[in-house]
Amino acid sequence: MKGILLAGGSGTRLRPITQVLSKQLLPIYDKPVIYYPLSLLMLMGVRDILLISTAEACPLFERLLGTGEAWGLRLQYAVQQQPEGIAQALLIGGEFLSGEGCCLILGDNLLFGDGVEAELRAAAEPQSGATIFACQVRDPQRYGVVSFAADGAVLDIEEKPQPPCSPYAVPGIYCYDGEAVSRAGKLRPSARGEYEITDLNRAYLHADKLRVRRFGEGVHWFDVGTPDSLLEASNFVQAVSHRQGLLIGYPEVLAWRQGWIEDAALAALVDGMVGEYAQRLRELAAGIKPWGRSEGV
Ligand code: DAU
Repeated sequence: MKGILLAGGSGTRLRPITQVLSKQLLPIYDKPVIYYPLSLLMLMGVRDILLISTAEACPLFERLLGTGEAWGLRLQYAVQQQPEGIAQALLIGGEFLSGEGCCLILGDNLLFGDGVEAELRAAAEPQSGATIFACQVRDPQRYGVVSFAADGAVLDIEEKPQPPCSPYAVPGIYCYDGEAVSRAGKLRPSARGEYEITDLNRAYLHADKLRVRRFGEGVHWFDVGTPDSLLEASNFVQAVSHRQGLLIGYPEVLAWRQGWIEDAALAALVDGMVGEYAQRLRELAAGIKPWGRSEGV
């Protein structure tokens, strides 16, 4: 399975912070926003990743992440000229995917907690159709919303329904089979002029090829589009890393844990770094802290 990391858009709700800097490059506690969804892809075992962003931001992401080789990844970059919808990412990534299945993840979505790793890995298994997720939230009308029948069958998915048809929002992580690109090619722009990811998911639903995995109460989902949500996510990561010593969203750790880089390569990465982020990695590399179990993403 390949990965597409969509990190474009104009971040209007975060102006003036995003006047000259992409939202996905802003910090969540000790690292850029983009590290978190990238880590989720890595947690799923995905190593071939296309990062899509604006013409202005792409070179900055490239400066930050490079080829990904240091983390055992193969990163490529592509420009989305205009933010014409999330489903457009599949068309931009068509050549990169060359018929393979993929996980599309939004560059501003973060997931932590119990069961995340198992759920994501199950969704990443090669299978026909699409797998998306559902998370109970207080304000579902801000998201794609999925409704279920009493027996758990999926009834419908709607984009920002008013009033919401259920409390289950759809986080920005979508796993698709090799048909996603051709299905996305058949979509028409919505009333707000976008190629909606919800319309693609509905196409899978109507073809009886959509699975929805519900996250439990132990899972925390953030999408960081406003100053408050950015701060909430930072506070959460800080609290968990201080209190429990969990390393959340560290690509170096995921690469090392999965054997994509050797001990020596991790030590070499840490060698040139200073600051608290490096200190945590240094302790890991030196075997001071075991962090054997899920690192919290
Ligand atoms: O966060 C999950 C939600 O993301 C889903 O529940 C919704 O179904 C989905 O439509 C989307 O809703 P948003 O209102 O959050 O979408 P937004 O336009 O804010 O875009 C989400 C991210 O994707 C944002 O960081 C910018 C990026 N993006 C968006 C569009 C439309 C792009 O890079 N290019 C685009 O064309």
